[in-house]
Amino acid sequence: MKAIKIQKYTPTPSTLVPIVTSKPSASVYAPISVRITHCSPQHADILHAQGTHQNNNEKRGWCHPPFNLGYDFAGVVADVCPDAVEGDDHGLKKGDRVFGARIGAFADYISVRAATVRKVPNGVSSEAACALAGQVVSYAAVVHVARVKEGETVLVSGASGGLGSACCAVAKAAGARVVALTGDEGKAELMRRDMGIDVAVMDEERYWIDEVKGLTEGRGVDVVLDNTGMVNRAIQCLAYECRIIVLGFAARKGKMEGVKMKRLLLKSVTVTGYRFGKSGRKSPEKLEDIWKGFLGIMERGELKPILYGSYKGLEEIGRALGDLEARKVYGKIVVKISDDEKKPKL
Ligand SMILES: NC(=O)c1ccc[n+]([C@@H]2O[C@H](COP(=O)([O-])OP(=O)(O)OC[C@H]3O[C@@H](n4cnc5c(N)ncnc54)[C@H](OP(=O)(O)O)[C@@H]3O)[C@@H](O)[C@H]2O)c1
Repeated sequence: MKAIKIQKYTPTPSTLVPIVTSKPSASVYAPISVRITHCSPQHADILHAQGTHQNNNEKRGWCHPPFNLGYDFAGVVADVCPDAVEGDDHGLKKGDRVFGARIGAFADYISVRAATVRKVPNGVSSEAACALAGQVVSYAAVVHVARVKEGETVLVSGASGGLGSACCAVAKAAGARVVALTGDEGKAELMRRDMGIDVAVMDEERYWIDEVKGLTEGRGVDVVLDNTGMVNRAIQCLAYECRIIVLGFAARKGKMEGVKMKRLLLKSVTVTGYRFGKSGRKSPEKLEDIWKGFLGIMERGELKPILYGSYKGLEEIGRALGDLEARKVYGKIVVKISDDEKKPKL
């Protein structure tokens, strides 16, 4: 099979090309072999390729070369190993359409534990499921961590990105008013049109915090979902006794900010960090609850991904990563790898 394999870290992920490598087979520890039909590059893939993600840390990390790059995927079950480790029960069979997130997704095949994948809900395309595969984080953040209530106003940073755009959609589905932040007026225009939300543009030239306050009649927002690393500026946008959920640091280039503690006190702000992967491993029951809710809003059509551009084949992963790095993308890139159904030979 072919895969985007990281044999050694690269500063330029956009130059990556697929190579021929061995196909992972279904085994006791990874009993579900999936033929990948779609995959979706994200910010963390760039960091993994460069070796700058916390998972690449030499002492504490688990992701070291050689490894197949990529995380979010959708595909078709190609094979099932009848023996699986205890607790990894599943009702999956050959031919089922599934989606999930696991390192090694930029490849023709991946083998995973059953708990890593879910069946694609009826009526949802594999392309849409792939775009949402990693975005269960957004549901967990909005519903379980921030506990957003109907009528609240939620500010989302990095809102044009994969996680950010899903956070906007989930918050809207929860009945909140959404104010989004992007770094680009062109993207802002598209987001206002396609997502039906208020968008403010964060650039150096304008005082966008006033714009956010104006959108909330001067009161400030109830919740900030921070994907870019802007806690100090979030505090300025908040109403009294409100909350900030720290989800990512996409804009910080590895350099964390020092938070102004006095401002936290003066506004009685609650700041909560949330790391989905770890929290799911520590509380599997909670994870099941989160998945149930997330699949529910997908099935009811309340969560539709915003798809960006057209990308086909593993050969286009480099271009996709380059576009992400250049901040051209609005919503999610989904790269089509193969067809959902095996085409009949005749
Ligand atoms: N907590 C968790 O469990 C969890 C799970 C998944 C991901 N994450 C983290 O969440 C963050 C967002 O992930 P994602 O997959 O949504 O990423 P993404 O698709 O690349 O989106 C990131 C967004 O951040 C904005 N941004 C602002 N300044 C930036 C900069 N200097 N460089 C790059 N982007 C910048 C961009 O929007 P504009 O160009 O419009 O400003 C971009 O659309 C990442 O830090 C990721 O590691 C956390």
